[in-house]
Amino acid sequence: MFAIETGINSSYSSILTNSVFFNQTLQHFFHRNGRGANITAPFKVHALNLCDHITKHASLVGAVNTIVKLPNNLLLGANTDGIGLISDLHHFYVLHKKIKSRVLLVGAGGAARGVIAPLIHNYNCNIILVNRTFLGAKKLVSCYKYMENLSTLPIEQLQLEKVKFDLIINATSADNFSNFLPYSLIHEQLFCYDMCYQQEGDTAFITWCRQHGAKKYLNGLGMLVSQAAYSFLLWHGILPSIIPVLNKLLKRTI
Ligand code: ATR
Repeated sequence: MFAIETGINSSYSSILTNSVFFNQTLQHFFHRNGRGANITAPFKVHALNLCDHITKHASLVGAVNTIVKLPNNLLLGANTDGIGLISDLHHFYVLHKKIKSRVLLVGAGGAARGVIAPLIHNYNCNIILVNRTFLGAKKLVSCYKYMENLSTLPIEQLQLEKVKFDLIINATSADNFSNFLPYSLIHEQLFCYDMCYQQEGDTAFITWCRQHGAKKYLNGLGMLVSQAAYSFLLWHGILPSIIPVLNKLLKRTI
């Protein structure tokens, strides 16, 4: 849809590989005139090590989801996951730049790491990061020591927190939240965002949020489309429209 909209002659398809053949697959693709690639989990860190140049953001995140073949045939590694989330939050008016929002970010893996700096830089929000394993949360937060906007606490202490969050983002791969997060977090004004996505029905996180009274929620399908649009921008120099693609995936009429 991006190619049709922009009139760019481009084909995009998926390639299945594994950790043994990942390097070879990538080399083969670019030797056969591939112009750019998206890299999905679990190869984003691997991809970073194969690129000749890395953008500042991808290097901070420690993962590459977009590779661009430069005119000199060298490979540039970038990461559009963070801007993908910001773009989706922006489309749905989830956060406001003028208000210092309180965000609870759940998870300390690659998905969480990719969105911390973009959230703070775009919204100057206060982020509390929690994780199943407190050590993982502490390690991640310590990478961003300079940021006053980011802190962590053991998940058990969440129940005692008096702070009412504006946004909770699930960046874990957990499939059950009942024994993990206190439902006292949920209130009617809270926006619940799941970085996991599915085309139909609610994800496990959104199901849990709704069961406890959440009224505002989104899964990560919009983030997926948005990160793809920003990858397209890196390859072709044009940012295509995100909403028509999202509507089509959700089978809504435009
Ligand atoms: P990704 O790169 O997609 O973020 P990851 O690096 O494996 O994947 O991170 C997965 C995240 O989900 C981690 O924060 C992990 O918590 P731990 O650091 O404690 O492992 C979290 N996670 C995975 N399964 C979980 C579960 N069943 N309950 C709670 N958190 C879980």
